[in-house]
Amino acid sequence: MDRRPRVLSGIQPTAASFHLGNYLGAVRQWVEMQDAYDAFYCVVDLHAITVEYSPAELRRRTRRAAAQLLAAGLDPERCTVFVQSHVPQHTELTWMLQCLTGMGEASRMTQFKDKSQRYGESAASVGLLTYPILQAADILLYHADYVPVGVDQKQHLELTRDLAQRFNHRFGETLTLPNPYIMQAVQKITDLQEPTAKMSKSSSSPGGILDVLEEPSSLRKKIMRAVTDTGTEIKADEENKPGVTNLLQILSALSGTSVPDLEKRYEGQGYGTFKKDVAEAVVEAFAPIRERTEKLLADEAELDRLLVEGAVRARAVAAETVAVVKDRMGFLPQG
Ligand code: AMP
Ligand code: TRP
Repeated sequence: MDRRPRVLSGIQPTAASFHLGNYLGAVRQWVEMQDAYDAFYCVVDLHAITVEYSPAELRRRTRRAAAQLLAAGLDPERCTVFVQSHVPQHTELTWMLQCLTGMGEASRMTQFKDKSQRYGESAASVGLLTYPILQAADILLYHADYVPVGVDQKQHLELTRDLAQRFNHRFGETLTLPNPYIMQAVQKITDLQEPTAKMSKSSSSPGGILDVLEEPSSLRKKIMRAVTDTGTEIKADEENKPGVTNLLQILSALSGTSVPDLEKRYEGQGYGTFKKDVAEAVVEAFAPIRERTEKLLADEAELDRLLVEGAVRARAVAAETVAVVKDRMGFLPQG
């Protein structure tokens, strides 16, 4: 038996490429955790249909997301990488958990409130409301001890713990209460053009976002054009110099050099040299991932085969959890 603590996380296939925020805030952390933990990572395609989408795009983006995860260093020999919809137990457990969730409890989730406001109350689907319950099922199916996520997901983790606790209280000790694993080292990566806002696929302008699969020349151009602040000093100061602060944090995260050490290194130097170094660090990190992603995407059959293998491993764990859950809840055995 594997005695390492279990980890599960998921990422939505909602863009053609991950961006620097996804990479530093999620993907790179997943890669780092794959040896010390018994890790399950999924592309959450069922979550991606809670808002308007195109089937052809979903198929393409799901493959691209999986390919990028593998290209970034997730190794199917060392962790389990799979696609959520390949494991039907995710939707099955969601139903059970939905019946334990209060209407008020679900409607209070801030991500639901934000998104339903954006799409309009009547245009918002019931799936958007139950999105966090599907996420709870993702986590509870695998008895995850830790869930690496961004701070914005804390509320969903709280709901997951509440549901697990409620289940255990009502039907007997069955589900494991997960802990959020929020990476402290990486601050929020902000938009290059609007450095007080989060870098985000839904709200950033093309000039404000750095995609993992972007051409090096385009990455360089965007970084050289990134908004810097008045003054010439290269110093972290979130209030007065959010642009420079963001670039310092990016360089620090990619180079492993602390921000104060970088401030010392660039003392008396202009923004130009500094930005060039940031650009080179980003290109150096992304170019090999881009190359490997393209290779993986060139052989769809092999990529799909790797994902089937991941799904087989995931299903074995998920099916066992659902069998116990159903028994505790009073469903008849299937023979
Ligand atoms: P999203 O695509 O926004 O749902 O984010 C997917 C993952 O990337 C989550 O774990 C987020 O916390 C992380 N993430 C997204 N944007 C950023 C950002 N600007 N800075 C740091 N992490 C981010
Ligand atoms: N809601 C998460 C996000 O927006 C994605 C997600 C779905 C997830 N299922 C998960 C994250 C399970 C962690 C664990 O980032």
